[in-house]
Amino acid sequence: MNGSKSGREHWGSKVGFVFAAAGSAIGLGNIWKFPYLTGQHGGGAFVLIYIICILVLGLPIMIAEIVIGRHTEKDPVGAFKIIGGGGRWTAVGYLGVLSGFFILSYYSVVGGWTLGYIVKTITGVVGGITDTSSAEAVFSAFIKNPVEMVLYHFLFMALTVWIVLGGVKNGIEKWNKFLLPILFVIIIVLIVRGLTMEGASRGLAFYLKPDFSRVTVFTVIEALGQCFFSLSLGMGAMITYGSYLSKSDKTLDSSLQIAGLDTMAAFLSGLAIFPAVYAVGMTPAKGPGLTFNILPVVFSRMAYGNVFALLFFVLLFIAALTSAMSLLEVTVAYSTDEKGWGRRKSVLIFGSLIFLLGIPSSLSFNVLSDVKIFFGLTFFDFMDKLTTIYMLPVGGLLIAICLGWKYGLRNTMHELDTDTGLQFLKKIWAFAIKYVSPVILVLIILYFGVYRMLVP
Ligand code: PHE
Repeated sequence: MNGSKSGREHWGSKVGFVFAAAGSAIGLGNIWKFPYLTGQHGGGAFVLIYIICILVLGLPIMIAEIVIGRHTEKDPVGAFKIIGGGGRWTAVGYLGVLSGFFILSYYSVVGGWTLGYIVKTITGVVGGITDTSSAEAVFSAFIKNPVEMVLYHFLFMALTVWIVLGGVKNGIEKWNKFLLPILFVIIIVLIVRGLTMEGASRGLAFYLKPDFSRVTVFTVIEALGQCFFSLSLGMGAMITYGSYLSKSDKTLDSSLQIAGLDTMAAFLSGLAIFPAVYAVGMTPAKGPGLTFNILPVVFSRMAYGNVFALLFFVLLFIAALTSAMSLLEVTVAYSTDEKGWGRRKSVLIFGSLIFLLGIPSSLSFNVLSDVKIFFGLTFFDFMDKLTTIYMLPVGGLLIAICLGWKYGLRNTMHELDTDTGLQFLKKIWAFAIKYVSPVILVLIILYFGVYRMLVP
C-alpha cells in the first residue's frame, strides 16, 4: 500500500470509529487526574466549568482534527502538506507525529505499572496491603526495580504493537469495540460498590458539592488544559483516526458522541473512587499516589476487596491500552502514507523505537533517578512536561490557525456534516476555530508553559 486513496483502510462502521476515538480519549487522564482535579477545585463547580471548556475548546478542535483527517485522508504530515500548501506548515504534522512518539514512550511505562498491579493483585501482594506505608513500600519497591520496570514496559508495548499490527478494522476497531464496553461495566460495578458503603456520602460531598469560592481564573485554565489532553488533541491522533472515515460518516455527530463518552468516563471515575476512599476513612491524592498508595488500602478494607482491586487495575489497563493504540497508529500512518512502508514494517520499527525511547523513562525511578536532564526533571518527567505542556497546546494552536486562516474553513465545511439538525453549529464552530481556540491556547501555553514553570 502506498497511501493512495483507493488502498486506504476504513473503519468497519461509524460506531467502530466512535469507539476507537473514545478509546483514545479515555485514558489515564480520565481516571487518575480528572476526579482529583474536581475534588480540589470546587467539586460540582469544576464539573460545570469542565463541561463548558469541552464545548468552547475541546469540541471545536476535535471537530477540526476529524475534519482535516477525513478531508485529506492522510496521516498528520500528509494532511498538513495538503492544508498547509506544503512548505513550513508541514512541520505541524511532524510535530504531531513526534508528540505521539514521545508520549507513547512514557505512557507505556505507566501502562506497564497497571499490568504489574494486575499481577500483584492476582498473586496476593495487593491483598496484603493494609495501610498507606505498606502501600508505599510495595509501590516504591516496584518502581525501584529496573528489570521489572523495563519488562512491564516491554509487555505493554508488545501488546499495543500486536493489536495495531491487526490493522485499523481488525485490530484497533475490533479491540476497542470489545474493551470499551468492559471499561464502562467495570466503572459502574465500582460505583455501585462504593456508593453502597457506609460513609460514602462524605466522598460524594468532597467530589461534587459545588464550591465556587475555590474557583479562580487558574481553575478555568486547569480545566482547559485537562480537557485538551483528555480528548487526545493537538497531535493528530484524531486527524489519523478521522482519515479512516468514509465520506458517509457524519463528523459532527461522531465528535459529540466521542466528547460525551470521554466526559462521562471521567465523571463516573470520580464516582467510583471517592465514595469508597472516604468510606474507609482515607483522603484522596492525585495521580499515581491515589492509584498505587491509597486505593490498595481502600480495597483491603472492603469485603471482596481483591476482586474490586483486580477490576480497578484492569480498568486502568484498558484505559491506557486503548489510548496507546492511537498514539502508535499516528506514527504508523505517517510511515505508511509518507514513506510507503507496509503496516507490518511500520508497526515493528516504530514499536521498537518507542520501546527503546521508553527505557530511560522506566529507569527514571531507579538507576537514573538522580539524572536530571532539564530544570531538575528526570527523563520521565521531562518527556511528560515537554509533550503535555508544550507540544500538544502548540500543536493545537497551529492546527486551528492553519485550518482557520491558511487553508480556510470554506474548503472543508462540507466535511462537517450531520443528520441530526445541528446545522447551526457549523457557524459557531467556524467562529470558535478562527478566534476563540487560538486565544485560549495561547493562554494555556503562557500559563502552564511559562507561569507555572517559573512559579510552581
Ligand atoms: N487522552 C489520553 C488520556 O486521557 C491521553 C492521550 C493524549 C492519548 C494524546 C492520545 C493522544 O489519558
